[in-house]
Amino acid sequence: MKGIFISFEGIDGSGKSTQISLLAKYFAKQKKSFVRTEEPGGTEGAHEIRKILLRENNFQWSVESEALLFMAARNDHVEKVIKPGIEDNKIVICDRFMDSTIVYQGMRSPRAKKLSLLLFDLIGISPDITFLIDMDPEIALDRALNRANDEDRFENYGINFQRQLRQNFLDIANKHSDRIKIVDGNRSPQQVAAQIIKSVETLVK
Ligand code: ADP
Ligand code: TYD
Repeated sequence: MKGIFISFEGIDGSGKSTQISLLAKYFAKQKKSFVRTEEPGGTEGAHEIRKILLRENNFQWSVESEALLFMAARNDHVEKVIKPGIEDNKIVICDRFMDSTIVYQGMRSPRAKKLSLLLFDLIGISPDITFLIDMDPEIALDRALNRANDEDRFENYGINFQRQLRQNFLDIANKHSDRIKIVDGNRSPQQVAAQIIKSVETLVK
């Protein structure tokens, strides 16, 4: 027996946290042992890196250095939370993982993408299933900007950037259709959750 690793991806404000909460509730009801975690973050060290990366007006990093910082945070997270969780037969649910780096940094620099992939190969762990919550970027951006937060996220780059992110996520999903399930996020949270739970049920059984 081995645990299951589930990741959620999508543009900012697409409803990942909402869906993870609903899935966590479902697992709790089923008395399944799960760990809920997020990137960048999940450990003390990774959270420190998150603070550096998402600080307001934080423009001192090249996109390549930014990618390496995300990868350092990820390595710490995999070592301390994700791998131990899976080895302990738990279901690990992660808000964002490697696909976010490929999209957010890789889209802006082929070299950042290459550097990240090299390191990812060495980290050596991939989700069993990934839910890409696909959303109209204008609605997602509205949702995200209405959320009170002191972090400077990539949502501040504007609507065209969000559109490109969406397309890049869809491209990756089509390339890895065995792992990544595209879920239409333009529905009620309950409707979206029902589809996700259906996919997960077959995996958990
Ligand atoms: P993410 O984690 O992807 O950034 P959130 O789950 O935090 O997204 O959702 C962003 C905002 O949109 C929140 O205020 C949330 O309550 C709202 N929201 C999430 N899912 C839906 C949905 N299906 N329909 C309408 N509003 C939603
Ligand atoms: P997150 O907290 O998931 O934001 P949101 O809830 O708004 O979706 O992620 C913070 C930001 O970090 C988000 O704008 C995406 C970005 N990010 C990257 O650029 N690269 C990465 O590898 C990861 C994991 C996140």
